[in-house]
Amino acid sequence: MCPDSRCAAASCYPFGNSTPDAGARLALLEDLYDPATRRHLDGLGVGPGWRCLEVGAGHGSIAGYLSDRVGPAGHVLATDIDTSVFAAPPAPNLELRTHDIGADALPEAAFDLVHARAVLGFAPLTALQPMIAALKPGGWLLLEQMSSAPTECLEPADDEAAVLAHQMRRAINTLIVRRGGDPGLGLRVPQLVRGAGLSDLGGESFAVPLRTRPVARFTLATVDLVKDQIVTAGLMTAADVDRYRACLAEPDRLFPAALWMVSVWGRRPH
Ligand SMILES: C[S@@+](CC[C@H](N)C(=O)[O-])C[C@H]1O[C@@H](n2cnc3c(N)ncnc32)[C@H](O)[C@@H]1O
Repeated sequence: MCPDSRCAAASCYPFGNSTPDAGARLALLEDLYDPATRRHLDGLGVGPGWRCLEVGAGHGSIAGYLSDRVGPAGHVLATDIDTSVFAAPPAPNLELRTHDIGADALPEAAFDLVHARAVLGFAPLTALQPMIAALKPGGWLLLEQMSSAPTECLEPADDEAAVLAHQMRRAINTLIVRRGGDPGLGLRVPQLVRGAGLSDLGGESFAVPLRTRPVARFTLATVDLVKDQIVTAGLMTAADVDRYRACLAEPDRLFPAALWMVSVWGRRPH
């Protein structure tokens, strides 16, 4: 449950899309993870005429990609609890809708593909069932969720950046839990999809390269979005947050905060 007593939602997204830098942060996330997601979508055969649901579309690059792929005979419904950073180019086959996947209804048996990346960890797990019911028989679910990477093996445990990164990861996870989300969902996505009665299961985990500026830029953007919440909640001191920000600005660090993306797909039986 959201800690804000004025908020009645079962879960809340702690990174908030309406803050000024939220769109830029999600664009960095897209740069890191879109190549793998597009590969999975291509592997499932997304093509002309498909009807697709993009849940928690964020900045919208995957919605835009799907809109290109399905062409004029297809349709993409992109949803988000907060659509303010959606930036996919408008297209006749692309519809944007404000929608809470944890609370609002979805049409049944309507889509050839339902995709959600880095969304379900912020919503109640009960959201999965309507997403599956929204698939046509034979339609594909592609569920992707981030998970903390076991980077301990890559960094000496007493390395300053590693220590601060782990503190920051714990603090962010605490914020997500306090707002009703589940930061550990990534590792459970395979069993979740398997338990949902889908067929033709497949999956892959994708780790972004650790020694790259894009990883540091995305991590810094994430830290900047949540640092006030973290300090106010007493989860880290402002000085430690600043030390971690300085580590992220240094070249030639391994950036142990990098995240894995766990991607699992399956299709609704005929
Ligand atoms: C980490 S971002 C990922 C955005 C996009 N899926 C991507 O991977 O580029 C999470 C997105 O989920 C949205 N979101 C969070 N809770 C949601 C909910 N209950 N229903 C719909 N969207 C939600 C947020 O507003 C945000 O745009």
